[in-house]
Amino acid sequence: MKKKLFIKTYGCQMNVYDSERMIDVMAMEGYEETDSPENADLVVLNTCHIREKAAEKVYSDIGRIRKIKDTKKKNGEEMVLAVGGCVAQAEGAEIMKRAPVVDMVFGPQTYHNLPKMVEKSISLKAKGEKSRILDTDLSVDEKFDQLSKKAVKKKPTAFLTIQEGCDKFCTYCVVPYTRGSEFSRKVDDVMKDAIKLAEAGVVEVTLLGQNVNAYHGTSADGEEWGLPELITKLAKIDGFERIRYTTSHPHDMTDDLINVHGTVKECMPYLHLPVQAGSDKVLKAMNRSHNTATYKKTIADLRKICPDLALSGDFIVGFPGETDEDFEQTMELVREVTYAQAYSFKFSSRPGTPAADMDSQVAEDVKSQRLTKLQALLKTQQMDFNKSVVGKTLSVLIENTGKTPGTAFGRSPYMQAVQVSIGDADFDQLKGKIVDVLIKEGGPFNIQGVLA
Ligand code: SAH
Ligand code: SF4
Ligand code: F3S
Repeated sequence: MKKKLFIKTYGCQMNVYDSERMIDVMAMEGYEETDSPENADLVVLNTCHIREKAAEKVYSDIGRIRKIKDTKKKNGEEMVLAVGGCVAQAEGAEIMKRAPVVDMVFGPQTYHNLPKMVEKSISLKAKGEKSRILDTDLSVDEKFDQLSKKAVKKKPTAFLTIQEGCDKFCTYCVVPYTRGSEFSRKVDDVMKDAIKLAEAGVVEVTLLGQNVNAYHGTSADGEEWGLPELITKLAKIDGFERIRYTTSHPHDMTDDLINVHGTVKECMPYLHLPVQAGSDKVLKAMNRSHNTATYKKTIADLRKICPDLALSGDFIVGFPGETDEDFEQTMELVREVTYAQAYSFKFSSRPGTPAADMDSQVAEDVKSQRLTKLQALLKTQQMDFNKSVVGKTLSVLIENTGKTPGTAFGRSPYMQAVQVSIGDADFDQLKGKIVDVLIKEGGPFNIQGVLA
């Protein structure tokens, strides 16, 4: 019987991508995925350290898995519990100390070694030896080489990591410490993976990086390519009809990249470009290297090239020193720029980051009030955006069956979730196709329409 792997993913899209790669490497060792830890021989928690809550959740999940592991042990069955990802990178030694039930801890740059680590853990255990493993090396060098071997599953959308890590050191953020310094994959390696995805039927590819628009990969002839050149080349691959990229930093939104939104039709009219705050004083304290004026100029330039661009962003409220006036400037910026959708968070103090030690930390209840206000505004804007497409015909990539019979789920060019009534049409014929959908209704979270 095949061995079973249960993997739980927390955090960002890059973690989702990493989990998929872990499933791939373990499949080569004969493991198949299961959706419950009770059935699993190997449990992997792929963790996120970005905010306090995310990190705490890991310890409560470890407690839950411990009970399952104990029960299995009583029945004579072994389970290997592995903690990977960004909490593992940041607090590896502490996890080993706090949670003896954890067999191995590994960081985001070492998960290609998972098969070796699992094998070692099992063989040490069989010999009755102490079997715990900690591998949080941060060098990225061989990871991607090891990961590209397995054929990909057939599905219409896929992530493709092209860049990892961050050298920006925003004062609130753990990513430079958990993912290491900025690293761009070579152009040829990206192209090879991309061609494999296209051959497997992928229609929409999302290029991933913590600072994806800072991409600077080396080409075969030794030249350095930026994201604009890479997107232009990827767009020529047969089968790719949609290209997205995330997450971008305003600092690296060059004119060439902005122009790609006008010249490459496969480059979708949607951009996640986090501003974080609307006060220049706060942006400076955050070490964001952009201010509201440069950010607004970038947005204006983008909208000149791509008038229907749907904009998404991230916001932090209650950064140390943020006054009511500073917060009001964030509200003002949102009103002026207008977002199709956005994520917003209360500032979470992260150990080891400069902002954790700053004076004038904002009280929790003030953060909560500000977040409620901001989210109400962003929700209205998202609703307005979704209503603005009612009556239009949008091209929708059909990804999945819908919630009810006779419907399918897809995404518009603007990343909206679309519920499509397909009538008597055969879903299997529609899956992976881009179809015209007449939009009939727009709600707060999704839009609905019929095949046009
Ligand atoms: N590389 C991306 C974002 C990575 S983290 C960028 O630079 O935009 C995703 C989002 O989490 C950030 O944009 C920020 O809004 C939020 N975030 C990061 N650290 C945080 C913290 N300490 N407290 C609250 N939110 C945080
Ligand atoms: Fe974090 Fe800033 Fe780097 Fe984004 S740019 S990952 S917010 S340090
Ligand atoms: Fe979280 Fe690490 Fe992503 S901290 S947001 S999983 S890069």
